[in-house]
Amino acid sequence: MRKETNLGAERKRITHPFPPLYDKESKILILGSFPSVKSREQAFFYGHPQNRFWKTVAGVLSEKTPETIEEKQEFLHRNHIALWDVIQSCEIVGSSDSSIKHVVPNDLTAILEEADIRSIYCNGAKSFQYYEKYLEEQTGKKATKLPSTSPANAAFSLDRLMESWKQICGPLQAAPVGIGEILLNWYDYNARILPWRSDPTPYHVWISEIMLQQTRVEAVKKYYERWMEALPDVASLAAVEEERLMKLWEGLGYYNRARNLKVAARAIMEEYGGELPGSREALLKLKGIGEYTSGAIASIAFGLSETAVDGNVLRVFARILGEEGDITRQKIKKKLEKEVRRVLPQKRAGDFNQALMDLGAGVCLPNGQPLCEECPWESVCQAHREGREMNFPVKAKKKARRKEKKAVFLLEMMSNGTLSVILHKRPAGGLLPGLWEFPNREGQFTLEKAKKELEQWFGKTEYRIEEENVLGEGKHIFTHVEWDMVGYGFRLEVPEKQLRSVMEENDWVLVTREEAKKQYAIPSAFEKYRNFV
Ligand code: ADE
Repeated sequence: MRKETNLGAERKRITHPFPPLYDKESKILILGSFPSVKSREQAFFYGHPQNRFWKTVAGVLSEKTPETIEEKQEFLHRNHIALWDVIQSCEIVGSSDSSIKHVVPNDLTAILEEADIRSIYCNGAKSFQYYEKYLEEQTGKKATKLPSTSPANAAFSLDRLMESWKQICGPLQAAPVGIGEILLNWYDYNARILPWRSDPTPYHVWISEIMLQQTRVEAVKKYYERWMEALPDVASLAAVEEERLMKLWEGLGYYNRARNLKVAARAIMEEYGGELPGSREALLKLKGIGEYTSGAIASIAFGLSETAVDGNVLRVFARILGEEGDITRQKIKKKLEKEVRRVLPQKRAGDFNQALMDLGAGVCLPNGQPLCEECPWESVCQAHREGREMNFPVKAKKKARRKEKKAVFLLEMMSNGTLSVILHKRPAGGLLPGLWEFPNREGQFTLEKAKKELEQWFGKTEYRIEEENVLGEGKHIFTHVEWDMVGYGFRLEVPEKQLRSVMEENDWVLVTREEAKKQYAIPSAFEKYRNFV
């Protein structure tokens, strides 16, 4: 029986009336069979209002459906999709695919030569049938058959079409729609229980996010709990003394983070009456809050629809999309951030961002083989599909760190009947500014050389060594420098006057072991020697 649309239409030989759409950036080619009457009238692809091509493709890419021909062209170019049909001319009745006879196929060589087409898809069985018959040999490429978007295939709902058509996202390096929801479902059962998650106030989220930069979750937990006991709100942070602040941060590293927290807390007191501001822009103006942290606070604490993209999220998305570009380059970062935004579930942005953090920390691991069989995104991950998880993310090699050798001196002596130790405050500029350290000297040392150093400090005859110990090697890695240390412990007896002048000259303090432990922030670079105190 003839279809209603073709009633009265006669069989005619027709030549394809408009050109292919592609450019040199096209990554996939979607082939139809032959344009319908409506498309021939409009001289553009998929012009029948009931054809679901535009809805389906825009849907899987989470975009608005383009309406005008100009919008459709712009949409295709921007998403690197080429369109063409398998038939150059044929006899056809109206729009009916099943009436097609005496086919002359199109030539695909120009498209394949000019663009780097990674995959070819056929829209419906007819197109696929002609592709296999006439074109596969010419192109040397297999095509994938997708269910037809034509109104004649009404049995296929838009949802079912999208479910099949989602696969075009792989070669397009676009995250398919719906993966945000999949991750949220996973998070609902797999979220880690963490102290800052039980009551995610802006202050709690802020402090935890700053602590979590460059520090592992397990290590942060106890610092976070201790901090909240000592400084439960913005006001207490704004008023805290520097030494106490440093002591609370002792061991977390990157101490400027703590100083910036205090500067920001003062600004919050002055400008916002002690409450963190509830917009990303205002958060970004606070000291120490950058793109990532502002997105995390805005989404987790304020429920705003914002992304929070850090190195872990970049790794996950580089794998999902098979991104070959270097993620340390701004252009690639921006591209991946756009993909994160594309799939962000608007109403649960905070959960989505935290789910990504958990996925990055526990499944899509940074070092070693990721646990793909546990991953909710296993079926949509390009790196996994190719078995190349470990090749992503692509990252430029960092410059080798400078190595510095050092001798660290644990100088102990009795003072007012208590065993005490010498400390020195590091200068305001440079590494670990303003924190406390044991006296130390750069260079390669032996015990003999270390004793010579004591002579330099205390003079040849003015002191007595009561005990000497080699405390072993220590290492600490900063971003650009590595300290390779050897420790020497000396129990000394130094005449009071002499000691005072040496301490003044070197800017040293003599503190009891108890004070060193409780009041002086000695960074973990010196942990090995701190443990001897
Ligand atoms: N890493 C950074 N932020 C985090 C958070 N809020 N929860 C778990 N891990 C994180």
